[in-house]
Amino acid sequence: MLTRPLRVVVLLSGRGSNLRAIVEAALPIEIVAVIGNRPQAPGLAYARESGLPTFALDHTAYADRVAFDARLADEIERHRPGLVVLAGYMRILSPAFIERFEGRLLNIHPSLLPAFPGLKTHERALAEGVKIHGCTVHFVTATLDHGPIVAQAAVPVRADDTPAVLADRVLAQEHRIYPQAIRWFAEDRLVHDGGKVNLAGGSGSQSVLTV
Ligand code: GAR
Repeated sequence: MLTRPLRVVVLLSGRGSNLRAIVEAALPIEIVAVIGNRPQAPGLAYARESGLPTFALDHTAYADRVAFDARLADEIERHRPGLVVLAGYMRILSPAFIERFEGRLLNIHPSLLPAFPGLKTHERALAEGVKIHGCTVHFVTATLDHGPIVAQAAVPVRADDTPAVLADRVLAQEHRIYPQAIRWFAEDRLVHDGGKVNLAGGSGSQSVLTV
């Protein structure tokens, strides 16, 4: 049984435009903490200005990933979240961390997974000459950028695209599908079926948004 409103902790490393989209969507959630691993991240400044409880945990102050992730996990647990949202969190998470939050850990990735996991997705999509690119919201599992898919949005790739232009087109879709996916989670509509996620109370096609 989920606590209502859903308590959400957001992790970020940079700009924070996905956090902003989530805040502006006025979802039936309570953002109980925004935690950034880079103290100067603009996303943390935005969170602070928006009156959200904001915490900087500088990963460079820790001996290794396991030590940092253990501290991070403790900080997250302190806020008793029903959901942890990775919104441009650019560090690989240790297996122990993922195990602790599995099933309540969402990520957004700037590609149509399983294509282009990892970094520089827009450059790689252009180099491959794909005609459709996009973004994916998925549950996080131990395999990087590979967990059960909740929502995807596709965008056309144009002949004159640069990585930056394509990234902007994808980002606009990230800002649609991440709030939508979080809303579904908050409404308890995401049903796990093996390695897949189905949407309760709607047609499956609702979980795939295309443009
Ligand atoms: C977004 O494009 C997000 O998909 C990507 O980082 C950007 C963060 O932007 N995430 C990853 O690449 C995760 N592997 P934002 O800080 O403006 O939300």
